[in-house]
Amino acid sequence: MDTALRGRRVLLVIGGGIAAYKSLDLIRRLRDAGAAVRVVMTAGAREFVTPLAAAALSGEKTYSDLFDGEDEAAIGHIRLARDADCVVVAPATANLMARMANGIADDLATAVLLATRLPILIAPAMNPAMWTHPATRRNLATLRADGVHVVGPGVGAMAESESGAGRMSEPLEIVAAAQALFAPGEGPLAGRRVLVTSGPTHEPIDPVRYVANRSSGRQGHAIAAAAARAGAAVTLVSGPVNLPDPPGVAVVHVETAREMEAAVRVALPCEIAIFAAAVADWRPARESGRKIKKDGAAPPPLALAENPDILAGVSAMETGRPALVVGFAAETNDVIENARAKRLRKGCDLIVANDVSQESGVAGGVMGGARNAVHLVDEAGVESWPEMDKEAVAERLVAALAARLSGREGGA
Ligand code: CTP
Repeated sequence: MDTALRGRRVLLVIGGGIAAYKSLDLIRRLRDAGAAVRVVMTAGAREFVTPLAAAALSGEKTYSDLFDGEDEAAIGHIRLARDADCVVVAPATANLMARMANGIADDLATAVLLATRLPILIAPAMNPAMWTHPATRRNLATLRADGVHVVGPGVGAMAESESGAGRMSEPLEIVAAAQALFAPGEGPLAGRRVLVTSGPTHEPIDPVRYVANRSSGRQGHAIAAAAARAGAAVTLVSGPVNLPDPPGVAVVHVETAREMEAAVRVALPCEIAIFAAAVADWRPARESGRKIKKDGAAPPPLALAENPDILAGVSAMETGRPALVVGFAAETNDVIENARAKRLRKGCDLIVANDVSQESGVAGGVMGGARNAVHLVDEAGVESWPEMDKEAVAERLVAALAARLSGREGGA
């Protein structure tokens, strides 16, 4: 079990959004992880959850009013801003982010946020249109530049029955991100941000059927875990897999390629992006809202539409492109030739190519199996590694990428 939060004091700022109900669970999860939690609520938050509920769960008084003489006498806002080890803002609404980014301190929560010099982690939550608005983009960039850490938001169905990026990360994801604040800053990737995609995507035909592939997510998850062990702050965007979330990694769960693309955009910027997911190249052109019935007629045709190429999109970014963009190639024949061509076509720096054919010789097969034999294909040439466990491939790949990154910076 991760002990990074044991004995730490977390000041939890709850903003005024519907996701505030999840923050009550977050209090419990933070305490389960060993932290003491003190809660500050905005006026908006009190419309969704009560200070009493937060106090019952945290075991401490909930603070909410800057001008409450009793509160200020008990513990002033400056002391609130100091008497903790970190501040977690969840949900961080668009309005709260805007006030933070502009140094506005017009209530207790924002006064504390302006006065504190502790590490701050925000878990944004808002409607997808607000999240993608240029004003929110600007505020997010400002907050990141100010050193604020961000977890999420997730992608998927929202309270207003809309879908897109904006859903607050799950409490356990927020706990993992808070733990990462205290992870010892050591290892070859300390201070670096790494993004990994993993698993298959599921492309719905109707509410019960989908198009998918055999990817288990094992290689991608192992890479995310290895990057975290190397000291990086890792975001793993995972399709549906039967694997536990790797420890110390912020995981965003998605289903479809389009959700994966949106979650990847949210997770940027980063120094290294590794696209290990087996993204479905196509999705059913029309998703039926109702289960398609077998009504005696001919089988329905399955028309397909092309999915966005996430790897190619990130490789082609003009501003904010990760320093190292790594793609995977699953090939059944002419592995190296195809990987070379794929690297050029997709515009990435490196391709990790593996032979997924039955004839590959890898015990148990590569797709869904435990072992892998890969070739690293880059501008300079090809490096072929012997067959090994996916965990060993991950470890070695992360070490190789860390070396490349520092080599580049040294040479720049
Ligand atoms: N990839 C992606 N988005 C897609 C498809 C693929 O990000 N829509 C990424 C994968 O994560 C992987 C790489 O691209 O890193 C290779 O994917 P692959 O499906 O093998 O490449 P294709 O371009 O589909 O080539 P082909 O189907 O001809 O092998």
